[in-house]
Amino acid sequence: MSPGIKKEPLLQITEEHLETGLRGIPVGYCVTSFVDPRKGLYYGEKPLHEIAFWKPEEVIYLLYHGRVGNKKEVEALSQELQARAFLSESVVEHIVKLPREGDPMKLLSMAVLVLGMLEATGNYREDALNCIAKMPKLTALVINHHAGWGGIHHIELEGYMEDFPSLLNISQKGEELAQELSQVFTLFNILHYDHGGGNLSVFVAKAVASGLEDIYGSIAAGINALAGKRHGGANVEALYFVEEFLQTLGPNATASEVEQLIRQKIEQKALIYGFGHAVLRVEDPRATIFYEVAQKYYPEHPLVKMAQLIRLSGTKVLKENPKIACPYPNVDAISGTLLVAAGFPYPHYFPLLFALSRTVGMAIQIVYERVEARGGKGTPIIRPSYPFKPLVR
Ligand code: MLT
Repeated sequence: MSPGIKKEPLLQITEEHLETGLRGIPVGYCVTSFVDPRKGLYYGEKPLHEIAFWKPEEVIYLLYHGRVGNKKEVEALSQELQARAFLSESVVEHIVKLPREGDPMKLLSMAVLVLGMLEATGNYREDALNCIAKMPKLTALVINHHAGWGGIHHIELEGYMEDFPSLLNISQKGEELAQELSQVFTLFNILHYDHGGGNLSVFVAKAVASGLEDIYGSIAAGINALAGKRHGGANVEALYFVEEFLQTLGPNATASEVEQLIRQKIEQKALIYGFGHAVLRVEDPRATIFYEVAQKYYPEHPLVKMAQLIRLSGTKVLKENPKIACPYPNVDAISGTLLVAAGFPYPHYFPLLFALSRTVGMAIQIVYERVEARGGKGTPIIRPSYPFKPLVR
């Protein structure tokens, strides 16, 4: 037993914990962020609302070093990320030969593997920084390729996310739109970097890395974990939900009509998308920030108006059921609506934006587990136990 380690049980495990998705079962330390059920997400010791509008590099510095960087330190990180952001001709050539049909998350995962095959150094710190640095260009390349929007411009990046609309060729549609999108993409990016140690994508990425797979293979696995509708794909489902309400009730729907439709859906045992969370017991502070931004800049957008009505009526109706632990909206309830309102009406690329962002959390948490945990020895290979249960079919 290492000195300083407390011996009191953190949790008494009973059979009731089995087949519950490891809910609440502590398995390690998270050095980047934590989710307080009532106060929400903290990056380091900073609550999200304090840092949501910082520059991405300031937030990445905070997550990587566990403290706020001074101007010089953040500038150095910014330059380092810019220097590493380059995609080689060979990487681009291979990626544009990948199939364009089907789910673009699979394409992104393959693109990360291509990057790893051609460029992995085998050093977790180096690869983590390279991966974080290259991810905006890589994601833009994958989206452009999948959408048929052309190649990627070799532009000098002004900042980590600020030029993302130009990388996507969206700036061709007008400078004003590019500016608006830049702000929303940047906010989306910052709010999705990390969400504690146990979210599925980070957990999977760390588990794969525990077998000593490199960062690229581990992050590709994390991206696959993110792709499903219960995780990174939930923002698409939640947008479709808002769109369906808008289509059914029209742009002048009242709160009571929305409430009625929610009750009808619950009666039909349909899912109320964008509500609830495994850890949170309040409205997800990421959602609160997105709602505020949507209300400030796009108050008249029909999807924004509908999402706000669903936010209130959904909470009201779900609160009536005491079995629902978290009757509040989560980040996915509004993130897609905000992207559409800002001028990015391409839902199948929302999970890719999530993956681009979550790469930061995956990479930094892998570095901790592989080269810093347990006095530098790293955590052992993940190997939980599954009590045997004879099949009765
Ligand atoms: C996330 O951001 O990863 C989601 O809210 C899911 C989670 O925290 O488990």
